[in-house]
Amino acid sequence: MIAHHKAYVELLDRFKHIALLESIEEVLTWDSRTYLPNCASEYRADQIALLTGMAHEKRTDPRIAQLLNELDADSINTEDISVEAVNLREWKRDYDKQVKLPKQLVEEKACTAVKAQSTWVEARKTNNFGAFKPWLKKTLDLNHQTAECLGYENELYDALLDLYEPGVLTCDVAPVLSQLRNELVPLIQSIAGSSKKPDISILERETSKSAQRNFASEVAAAIGFDFNQGRLDETAHPFCIGLGLNDTRITTRFNENYLPGALFGVIHEAGHGIYDQNLPKEHYGTPMGQYVSLGIHESQSRMWENMVGRSRSFWEYWYPKACEYFPVLKTVTLDDFYFAINEVKPSLIRVEADEVTYNMHILIRFELERAMLNGDLSAADLPGAWKEKYRKYLGIDVPNDTKGCLQDIHWSGGMIGYFPTYSLGNLNAAQLFRKAGEELGDLDDMFQAGDFSTLKNWLTEQIHSQGRRYRSGKLIEVVTHEPLSAEPLIDYLKTKYMPLYGL
Ligand code: CO
Repeated sequence: MIAHHKAYVELLDRFKHIALLESIEEVLTWDSRTYLPNCASEYRADQIALLTGMAHEKRTDPRIAQLLNELDADSINTEDISVEAVNLREWKRDYDKQVKLPKQLVEEKACTAVKAQSTWVEARKTNNFGAFKPWLKKTLDLNHQTAECLGYENELYDALLDLYEPGVLTCDVAPVLSQLRNELVPLIQSIAGSSKKPDISILERETSKSAQRNFASEVAAAIGFDFNQGRLDETAHPFCIGLGLNDTRITTRFNENYLPGALFGVIHEAGHGIYDQNLPKEHYGTPMGQYVSLGIHESQSRMWENMVGRSRSFWEYWYPKACEYFPVLKTVTLDDFYFAINEVKPSLIRVEADEVTYNMHILIRFELERAMLNGDLSAADLPGAWKEKYRKYLGIDVPNDTKGCLQDIHWSGGMIGYFPTYSLGNLNAAQLFRKAGEELGDLDDMFQAGDFSTLKNWLTEQIHSQGRRYRSGKLIEVVTHEPLSAEPLIDYLKTKYMPLYGL
């Protein structure tokens, strides 16, 4: 029995210790993105770099290689999905990656990310791409070095994508995104040509921050986010982060003149949080207790935000309550509200994009970061290239860099290769949601009656409780009995939006 083998027990101990150390780093990261005073960012960068370095040292301790060898981790059958086999396989993968990265590079990346991020916050505020440019260059350079150290299948980008979506190659993602573009651009154009338009001014009626917070929290709790094991705080750029066992933080930003921002933002982050809170706790700190990939994580948030949270049946249940929280909605019909929260319109800002145009925003970033990494596009030429693509794919003009290439946090945080996971999230969500409907019966009937736990429990059983047992592609196949395809998402979008726009 591997489970009782001395070497396996020592590995468990070591990785649980590393998880403890890394959870402290997460606390510092959460703080730096919510409440840290501006002037403290440099010292915080040093604090985070210290912990990153310590964790890296422990992850690359030669003793780990010895223990993995003793257990013959190399010869584990990839089909073996027992807890021990999964942990050994993932530890081995992790170790092999970590030892390829010099400690100095890891620390420099962590340190650069914090400094680049605080520069980016200012640059974005003042529309000053020039201030951010040297940091973007440095970030690209560090990612270039990272990819070279890790090694790659066909191109540099593969090595980085693999960090967020293990096992997925650039050549897997590129054609799926192109397929989405080919199907969705004509749909976006027909919608633009429709004479039916929602009145979105109803969403701009003033609603207080406290009412927004209370309503969003009630919804988050109803879909399964446990506030006894989590909190909701404010930030400039919303995110969800696990700070250790039984501590999952979600964040949002409120706009009293735009209700959907915080509302759907909270549902989105709660979707991430529910995944985090329902990972198997007995395996905390080991791969069996971790999420599969960002593409699977994002499938949970996008499903709750869009497929559930923007469905008509969801609002049949919630709308009367919303009218109590926000009396300005009392003169608005459910139909008008439903149409307004599902407006499709090419826009500048990714995080505010509707479900139909969203994947075009991702395609643009994917193409640009891939080109910058490969040296086909210089950092200096980014703003121009950004504007060109927005004209080409979405037919809109980008007035400034604040609303253009400075809008996202990712590049300032050192994350290149991350964006495709958003679209993978949408694709995974649509395929899982279709399967849930087939297995559970009419989901709309459930939502209408305020039952969200049937879907939540199904997701916990099929996805959350599985930890890292399967790679993302395999998990989708195991749950839906089909390989990932663009068809469920395209079908979902057409079925929902064509009638809405009278097409
Ligand atoms: Co997300």
